[in-house]
Amino acid sequence: MIYKEHDYTRELDAAIRAAREAGRHIQKRAENLGDLQIRKKGLNDLVTEVDEAAQRIIIRILEETFPTYEVLAEEGDMDVSERRAEGYRWIIDPIDGTTNFAHGVPPYSVSIGLQLVEEIVVGVVLDVSRNELFTAVRGNGLRVNGAPGSVSMTDTLSESLITTGFPYRSIGHIDLYLQVLGQFITKSRGLRRPGSAAIDLAYVASGRFEGFFETGLLPWDVAAGLLLVEEGGGRVTDYRDRQNPVFAEQLLATNGNIHVEMLELVKPMQDVYQ
Ligand code: IPD
Ligand code: CA
Ligand code: CA
Repeated sequence: MIYKEHDYTRELDAAIRAAREAGRHIQKRAENLGDLQIRKKGLNDLVTEVDEAAQRIIIRILEETFPTYEVLAEEGDMDVSERRAEGYRWIIDPIDGTTNFAHGVPPYSVSIGLQLVEEIVVGVVLDVSRNELFTAVRGNGLRVNGAPGSVSMTDTLSESLITTGFPYRSIGHIDLYLQVLGQFITKSRGLRRPGSAAIDLAYVASGRFEGFFETGLLPWDVAAGLLLVEEGGGRVTDYRDRQNPVFAEQLLATNGNIHVEMLELVKPMQDVYQ
């Protein structure tokens, strides 16, 4: 009950400040990528010095105001096994879309979510490449650059624009994935692969895409964006229609209307998590 009375204004402000300051740093570097230092964390899994600097900026700003909140961030030795936070926990992706960023291709974003026990209560996604800000506090709706936003009203897959992320770290299930992809290409209005899951989710939330699915996403990819979609009036589940898939490594997000149609198409991948 005590949590319901918390209005999260200070958390939202701090997350926006952190995203904007990190975003300024990222964009400044984007204008001169010549000497960018890139390392590989695994197959096709990149990290640059800019990811690390942006993460330091974000954590510094959040910890200044909220020294007792836990932090789960992509770059570092973070334990992703704990689904439940003890209390409040920031879940941070300093650059979502690092491969895009490293190649000078938009979009790329900063994603900051705040988790309370199991639930995401604050979400901020800043599209750094377009300087567009998506925010939500649970129960208070979606904002796009400060104005209210919502999912689209489209009610059939055949009139829907769908977005996805292709597998790239592990391609063991590529045949199955290509079958599913073929179904979406055949049955939707079109399919896109922008390259930032946080932006895929922000665009479903704000009615630009009708649906998004991706396998193998991690908490920092989805924490903030998932709340954006829910607060925009959409639905977010795993491939078995279970809610709150922050740690599920499978994600289906839609405007709500086409959720059942999309669930049917991703069914063959219900047991795939990478
Ligand atoms: C990646 C992006 C991409 C998605 C990958 C993510 P990163 O995040 O969100 O769109 O397909 O699965 O890992 O590595 O750029 O932070
Ligand atoms: Ca990411
Ligand atoms: Ca990242």
